[in-house]
Amino acid sequence: MKWLFSAAVLASVPASAQGSAPYEIHGDAIPASLTGQVGDPARGEKLMGDRHRSLCSLCHSGPFAEPHMQGTIAPDLSGLGSRLSEGQIRLRVANIKALNPQSLMPSYLEAPTRADISEDWRGKPILEKAEIEDIVAYLVTLKE
Ligand code: HEC
Repeated sequence: MKWLFSAAVLASVPASAQGSAPYEIHGDAIPASLTGQVGDPARGEKLMGDRHRSLCSLCHSGPFAEPHMQGTIAPDLSGLGSRLSEGQIRLRVANIKALNPQSLMPSYLEAPTRADISEDWRGKPILEKAEIEDIVAYLVTLKE
């Protein structure tokens, strides 16, 4: 199965959604660091393996967690750094719904405001910007 995003999907991201975002989307990427700093790949790897905190391994497989703990409903992230640029990876981790509004993957940088979300989570992004940068710094090291 291919998980490529079509140009039509990209073109349908409303300009207003991009304008209100606290970061700039260029094409299918966020080229600039969300914090202005480079993340720490070792912290990113640890975070990705922590299924209670980042949730990544609930859905994804890859070299960051015990094989028997990995989900298979999302693309394997092995070799990701050879397939996508740093900026492309950043947009997918920060806000995949900008590319695919139907995606099962949470938009990590968007704070959920829906009333059906428990108070502990409401209004807070799932991960801090610095944590997203740590994950991006780790994922770019995954080469084929
Ligand atoms: C609830 C399931 C789920 C969780 C949790 C999740 N993802 Fe995803 N992710 C997906 C799915 C499904 C896709 C496929 C693209 C789509 O849905 O449009 C995807 C796509 C991606 C992609 C693009 C992969 C490619 O080959 O193009 C990256 C990078 C990614 N996820 C990273 C992460 C990271 C990092 C985390 C944790 C911080 C995470 N995901 C958590 C379901 C999930």
